[in-house]
Amino acid sequence: TMPGPLLGRHVVVTSGPTHEPIDPVRYIANRSSGAQGAAIAAALRDLGAKVSFVTGPASVPPPDGVDVIRVETARQMRDAVEAALPADVAVMAAAVADWRVTNAVERKIKKDGSGNPPALEMVENPDILAWISQLERRRPALVVGFAAETHDVVENATAKRKRKGCDWIVANDVSPATGIMGGQENAVTLIRPDGVEAWPRMGKDEVARRLAEAIADAL
Ligand code: C5P
Repeated sequence: TMPGPLLGRHVVVTSGPTHEPIDPVRYIANRSSGAQGAAIAAALRDLGAKVSFVTGPASVPPPDGVDVIRVETARQMRDAVEAALPADVAVMAAAVADWRVTNAVERKIKKDGSGNPPALEMVENPDILAWISQLERRRPALVVGFAAETHDVVENATAKRKRKGCDWIVANDVSPATGIMGGQENAVTLIRPDGVEAWPRMGKDEVARRLAEAIADAL
């Protein structure tokens, strides 16, 4: 068989949601299934890459043939990505929680009979994509981010590419009516420094294959 175009390359992929604890039995989460991230990891593996797959608690299983690093919180995900470096490519497909609860506690919060709910205090999580994009010596040569948007998809994602300092952004419309979040299909726009390419709606596996090929072509 032909050697894959990504043979000898190391790619770090983040995937899935993160869970941010409130107490031992409760957490803040989001609707990410991890399906697109898992498909991307599998497609990169199929092209010969060594894949470090850093995944939050996803509802789809990780692919075979990749190094699976399971994490729960955004901070654990950042640490796991850092530990996986150096890498040639980073694809940040995780739906990282933007905030975590600063007053999380070790014992289950009980109703106190007053009718008053507990007040959750929150702080912003580290932005893993922005962090990896600004590394100097250890920055992967190609950093790919995602932008899940519900409106003005290309405008918002183009601004996000600049703000985060990544090379490419895969933008997708996650308006509830699209059924994309949690679904089998995706409609993405690939935003690169030299242009914008809207791909037709297709299966998440096919999006992953095309993205992996674009990555192989770019290296
Ligand atoms: O800012 P926003 O969350 O829309 O950006 C999405 C992109 O940034 C995705 O690639 C996501 O994986 C990444 N991200 C991250 N760490 C965060 C927030 C987002 O890596 N804390």
